[in-house]
Parts: sequence; C-alpha cells; structure tokens
Amino acid sequence: MPLRPKKTLLIGVAALAALVTGTLPVVNAAAAPSPTISKDPFGTLSDGTKVWRYTLTSSAISVKIITYGGIVQRLDAPDRHGHRTDVVLGFPKLDDYVAKNNPGPYFGALIGRYGNRIAKGTFTLDGTTYHLPLNNNGNSLHGGPKGFDTKVWSATPVKTKNAVGVRLDYTSPDGDMNYPGTLKTSVTYTLSGSSLRLDYHATTDRATVVNLTNHSYFNLAGEGSGGIYDHRLRLNANRYTPVDSTLIPTGQLAPVAGTPMDFTKATPIGARIRDGFQQLAYGQGYDHNWVLNGSGFRLAAEVGEPTSGRVLKIYTDQPGIQFYSGNFLDGTLYGTSGRQYRQGDGFALETQHFPDSPNHSNFPSTVLRPGQTYRTSTVWSFSAH
Ligand code: BGC
Repeated sequence: MPLRPKKTLLIGVAALAALVTGTLPVVNAAAAPSPTISKDPFGTLSDGTKVWRYTLTSSAISVKIITYGGIVQRLDAPDRHGHRTDVVLGFPKLDDYVAKNNPGPYFGALIGRYGNRIAKGTFTLDGTTYHLPLNNNGNSLHGGPKGFDTKVWSATPVKTKNAVGVRLDYTSPDGDMNYPGTLKTSVTYTLSGSSLRLDYHATTDRATVVNLTNHSYFNLAGEGSGGIYDHRLRLNANRYTPVDSTLIPTGQLAPVAGTPMDFTKATPIGARIRDGFQQLAYGQGYDHNWVLNGSGFRLAAEVGEPTSGRVLKIYTDQPGIQFYSGNFLDGTLYGTSGRQYRQGDGFALETQHFPDSPNHSNFPSTVLRPGQTYRTSTVWSFSAH
C-alpha cells in the first residue's frame, strides 16, 4: 500500500511509514521504552464464554480492547501538558455492551459484515437477491442485529521491538445474517508510539459483499466531559454522498462547497449544525459519508480540541469516511466513568466504502470473490499542541 510522504514531515512520516508497512522505525526507537501488552478478564457471557480485555501501552498512549465485538473499550491519550484522559466513549462492564450497544450506539465496536446501511436490506449479486434482517427504519445497519460487534473474537498477541498488537479472528459462517459465503476475518490492532493501526483482512468461499470498519466515538476533551461541537474538524473531501430521509444515499456525489458539509478547512463541528440544511435535518446532525480526495493511503480527517490541545489524525486507504456527530445519543446511556451521554457528546469517523454500495453501480465496489483478499488499513494518530 503506497504511502506518499511529504518531505517536510520527515520524522513523523518515518514513524508513520514504519507503522503502516510494519517495518521497524529507526527514528525515536532508542528514546522510548518498549510498548507492553497485558490482558485481564472482562466478564463472562450468559453461555459461559469468557471475554478478555487486552491493554496495549506505549510511552504515549494506552488502549484497551475486548474480545467481545473487538471493542476499543478505552483509549487514554495525553493533552498538551501530558495529562492522559480516556478519549473514547464506552461502558465500564461487559453486561452494558451486551445489553445496550446493539441496538444502540455500537461504541468502539468492529462493524461487519457491512458498515452502515444497505437499503431495504436487499442486494443482488451474480443474479441472486439476498435479504438481510432489517434493523434500522426498514434498512439493514452495521451487519444486522447479530453483527461482528456482538461476536467473541479469538485473540493472539503480537509483539515486535517497537510495537505491540492484538490480532482478532472471527469466521462468519455462510449465511450469517443472510450474507453469502464463509467470511474468514481478521482485524489487528497495533500500537506504536502515539499511533494505533487497524488492519482488516477477509477472504470468502463464495462471492459476497464486505465493508468493515471500527465504530469508536471520540471526545478529545475526555469521555463524559460534555459536547464535541467545539472540536475543529477537517476532512480531506470535496464531495459527500447525500441521503434520503432514512439515511440511504441517493447515489449522487455532491460538492460540499457552499454548504455546511464543507470541512475542507478546519471548522468547529457545531458551527453550522443547526443551519436548517435539509441533509442535517435528516440525520439530526452530521451522519453522512464523505468521498475522500485522492487514493492510496492518505490523510482522511484531522480533529483538534482547543482546550486540551489534543489532535487526532486519521489515515486510510478507503474511498470514504462516515462522520457521525453522535446525534442519537439521548441521555439514556451512562458511560465508562458513570457520566450521562447526551446528543453530540462524541463523534465517530468510520473509514469505509460508501453506504449501500451494493445498490449503486457508480460507487466503488464492495464485492469480494473467492481467491481475492479484502485488505484495508486505518491509522489513528494522536498528538497534542
Ligand atoms: C450511523 C448512524 C447510527 C450510528 C450508531 C452510524 O454509523 O450512520 O446513523 O445511529 O452509526 O448506530
């Protein structure tokens, strides 16, 4: 996967390139202590299955991932004074994830087989029409009621000199949630320095569609600290995919210019969110897919929180990114530290193929066939200024 570094960013890009390619970073390697990995029990499901929580810690950040749903349960990152805070929304206990995350917000979860919506849960592939379970206003959302976010993944720790990771494996049987093909899936989280890399792989034994992502909600001032409307967002996207009232893309790729969807320059998330723009009324805020500029591994999004100075940069090879401003958080959920989550208390940036691609021939294809490997990578890179 090609990375096109800018010459002016040599040190950061060297570390990032190492992270992306899996090679050992030379720069900074001596200074920082080696990252560590540990695990602790995170509860037991009603069928007796044990769930584990893996903690990956580097000199900069610490992330906790549970084997249920491959969920990022917490992620502690430093502010400009070095003070670490949990910057993802989540729950303190396994029971909360089981009872409230689906249907619900999908906090931190791996999403599969298909991130976001498929219209009326229906698509046709090679002449066969498939009907998925409907779980969102007559559409199929995030792989269905028993999607990958509800599965217990088998975990294997991964360790190199400068990185630690956990590889999660799940084999989805042919017909799972009515999707065709046995889908062998692996997702590896790798922590190195202040970046977390997410590598997704999948193969199938029958033609199918696949669109995997992670559904973390961020609040760079700290989960439970209030709203994210003052976070400044920049998206590397000149176009987005407008939706109908059920949040299904119309098929258009519309320019963002001159609309509240324009984040080509860093803009507070809340600056235009109540402007009365029809698209924002449909989603009760931002809940759309942006068409990323360019191709190959590149910067997709950058978010900064002014008070803490925390910055999150997201890199991906995917064609799109779903920016969701936490519109449906309604105060009924209490998070990791016991605080109430209300509308706009977190935002998600889900790297992905476009929603409902199987029903839009003008969108990049999400079809995976036997013999092909689905492969995609995303990096979340944290800093503070
Ligand atoms: C969807 C939202 C949905 C949220 C939680 C987002 O990816 O686009 O409409 O409410 O996930 O399920």
